[in-house]
Amino acid sequence: RRVVVLISGGGSNLQALIDEQTHERLGGEIVAVISNEPAAYGLIRAKEAGIDAVVLPHREYDSREAYDGALIKVIERHEPDLIVLAGFMRILTPRVVQRFLGRMLNIHPSLLPAYQGLNTHARALADGVTEHGCSVHFVTEELDGGPVVIQAVVNVVDGETESSLKEKVHAREHLIYPIAVKWCLEGRLQFTPGGATLDGMPL
Ligand code: GRF
Repeated sequence: RRVVVLISGGGSNLQALIDEQTHERLGGEIVAVISNEPAAYGLIRAKEAGIDAVVLPHREYDSREAYDGALIKVIERHEPDLIVLAGFMRILTPRVVQRFLGRMLNIHPSLLPAYQGLNTHARALADGVTEHGCSVHFVTEELDGGPVVIQAVVNVVDGETESSLKEKVHAREHLIYPIAVKWCLEGRLQFTPGGATLDGMPL
């Protein structure tokens, strides 16, 4: 089964997936990494792993629609079974979402539905929460609002800072994203409009 990963930055989640693939534990193959940012370090990670690394700079397109049209073409050229957003910092148009509905996952640094959007760690700290974490979800037209498939929780401790919290959450992201991807590739995880199922059971 074929996986395309979309990134914009460092690509540490991409690296976690590459590491699973290296140990033949992913249940599929990352056939391409696409970045909208030419300088994304994740592109280097892809090349070092021998994966096709594609730059598709959004600044070269006049509109979001034009960009997303080009993005669909590049993605489909690689005939993926699954599209994995791993720090892809662009909001996708409904056209892209609909095209890949049920085949596209995202990871978000909060315990969804709490803290959709940006600056999740700072907002969680400001609210004085005792638990924070990360979530993998299917991508739907509602931003960070699709069915959640797996979450990891971290405790927020005394003296926690935004950077310490971010680091802890990131480490958990690297644990849960490969699990969710594997479930998808094994056909165990399914999208339904009402939610997601694992082995036929609602999550
Ligand atoms: C992660 O925090 C992820 O939750 C968010 O973007 C960040 C990507 O980090 N969507 P990396 O590029 O995988 O290191």
